[in-house]
Amino acid sequence: MKIAIGCDHGGIVLKPAIVEYLNSKGVAVMDLGCYDTQSVNYPVYALKVAKAVANGEADKGILLCGTGIGMSIAANKVHGIRAAVVSDVFCAKMCSAHNNANVLCLGGRVVDEQKAVELVDAWFTTPFEGGRHSERVDMMMKIESDE
Ligand code: RB5
Repeated sequence: MKIAIGCDHGGIVLKPAIVEYLNSKGVAVMDLGCYDTQSVNYPVYALKVAKAVANGEADKGILLCGTGIGMSIAANKVHGIRAAVVSDVFCAKMCSAHNNANVLCLGGRVVDEQKAVELVDAWFTTPFEGGRHSERVDMMMKIESDE
């Protein structure tokens, strides 16, 4: 299992704790930046992570900005990406169980490090349920080819 992670200056505060958690689970982490708190443009990092997931370099992705919102909007522009921004454990589980979210987005100005790790754990350890949800996910993804 390999996870690509990216952030901007608003989300970088969460990155070390998440990387430490993933490493403790034996997950390989591709850190695609940014690497300091200098102001940067979040779509740059959303694209890097989304492409790594879409082209199979990484199995899943994590994106961190101030709210998680900009990262999720940008990542969802890339075909094959189902990015979900969450701030509670229920939604972190559901975005995997029902929506098969392959990118998790979190806000460094919304949650603290401890909550961020809880959210990553909830998403990461909850499998996609498949069944009736597969059909719905397929319908979502078909929008990309139809538009
Ligand atoms: C940067 O100030 C902020 O806009 C960004 O981190 C993010 O919250 C955007 O959605």
